[in-house]
Amino acid sequence: MFKPYNFTKKKQIDFLFLPQDLKYIYTMVKEIIRKVGAQVEHYLEESQKGNTPALNQQAPERIAQDLKLKKRFQKGFASTEDLLDFTATYLTHTNHLNHPHYMGHQVAVPQDLSGIPEFIHGAINNPSSLYEMGPAGGTLEGFMINWMLEKVGWEKQKDPYDFKFLPGRPSGLLTHGGSVANLTALAAARAAAAPDAWTQGNPSNLIVIGAQTAHYSIARALSILGLGSQAFWPVEVDEKEVLQMASLEKVYKKAVKEGKKIMCVVANACATSTGLFDPIDAMGDFCSKHQLWFHVDGAHGAAALAAPKSRHHLKGIEKASSIIWDAHKMMRVPALCTAVLFKDFTHQAGAFQQKGSYVFHDDEVVGMDSMPYTIECTKSALGTKLFWTFALEGEAAIGAYIDDSFALTQDFYVLLQAHPHFEAPYTPESNILCFRYTRYGEDDEFQRKLRYAVINEKAFYLTSCMMNGKRYLRVVLINPKTDLKHLSALLDCIEITAEKLSEQLL
Ligand SMILES: Cc1ncc(COP(=O)(O)O)c(C=O)c1O
Repeated sequence: MFKPYNFTKKKQIDFLFLPQDLKYIYTMVKEIIRKVGAQVEHYLEESQKGNTPALNQQAPERIAQDLKLKKRFQKGFASTEDLLDFTATYLTHTNHLNHPHYMGHQVAVPQDLSGIPEFIHGAINNPSSLYEMGPAGGTLEGFMINWMLEKVGWEKQKDPYDFKFLPGRPSGLLTHGGSVANLTALAAARAAAAPDAWTQGNPSNLIVIGAQTAHYSIARALSILGLGSQAFWPVEVDEKEVLQMASLEKVYKKAVKEGKKIMCVVANACATSTGLFDPIDAMGDFCSKHQLWFHVDGAHGAAALAAPKSRHHLKGIEKASSIIWDAHKMMRVPALCTAVLFKDFTHQAGAFQQKGSYVFHDDEVVGMDSMPYTIECTKSALGTKLFWTFALEGEAAIGAYIDDSFALTQDFYVLLQAHPHFEAPYTPESNILCFRYTRYGEDDEFQRKLRYAVINEKAFYLTSCMMNGKRYLRVVLINPKTDLKHLSALLDCIEITAEKLSEQLL
């Protein structure tokens, strides 16, 4: 079983409390970093070997006590040992994403060294939204955005060191997460549909159309923008919860008949619950035909643009007006890091028409500021951690990881199909799959309880969701260390746990 890292060497000097001259600070920093680094290394090793539970869930009161929060908050760490005791205890109370049995939410299992730019940022604090506050971070953001624009197919052979924002040319920026990115893209769509909305407020007839399974951040964005969540007009989906073109046509006709102004049409790429892709190519053609803004929510699935065998799921994505793409889901980058991409910089520029004279000095500015185009004023050095993960692994390896995780999910589907007590309602298209344990009937509540019971066994971490009115167990196969043998063990664990649960419920 997992044991916290143990420093066997006897403590000789307490570095935390050495006199504050430069030499000692240097020694202290070096020593503490070395020791915390060793703890993290140990944590990764134990998690990856499966020597710890994926999640050993405890109540917050217990965690607060274990971490001695009150005492440490008031008095500070008593010693270096005390600091290390805190970090060791903290690490035991985490969800161990690096464990091959972690298959829960769409949150990246970072490359082992992906935390280093976070550490550097924490020490130097160079936000990247204002170029002069973080020139290196800002440059890396521009470089990675150029790479993404090329992957979408909007830019061909652009000089990756060309960072200028130019009207008529594709552009983009990084934000803290997909929800903020969706809000940013919808603000830009609103500016295009109703240019006076920023100063005058929204016209009452603005709507957004998308699958009824669109991520909740879309409806939230509409409320935040003052349109109200009812401005989202849902399009019916099929039994696999994929948008149907005939239904889109129907909603469109109804909207036109009622005099609505369609601000944009949203595609799931892919849907959060199922991991299935909306018909992007056909939706793109539909939007071109009717001259509508086409927004692709690729929070999870846009990463397939980097994966040679899986990119076909995104066919037609270049027809989009805006795209969001989370790097902290499928690209092994620690949360948060999302790109919002625009086919035309004019639209990025229109999203937030608010000027702050102390920062937006267009003429003299060196480099590029993303601040005028984001909700966030200060933001982290997001491009640095995105670049870093690629530099650690190489572009081809990240692509192969995405392809492999999609392929493993197909293999898991085959395993489920062959088992008499499991049911999987669709062939997966990404690394997300819903399935049910059917031996004890069709009860939704049983699936929900089963998920908690499996987690409480401290063996696996998985999620659950509703699909087409039924509750399912759900995996997101995002850990590169997870293989078919772990998935086979998952099925065994579910069988044993379900039997115990059914006895308890009798
Ligand atoms: C399709 C989709 N859009 C948006 C989001 C929100 O992204 P974030 O969690 O980065 O805010 C998610 C999150 O799972 C998602 O699946």
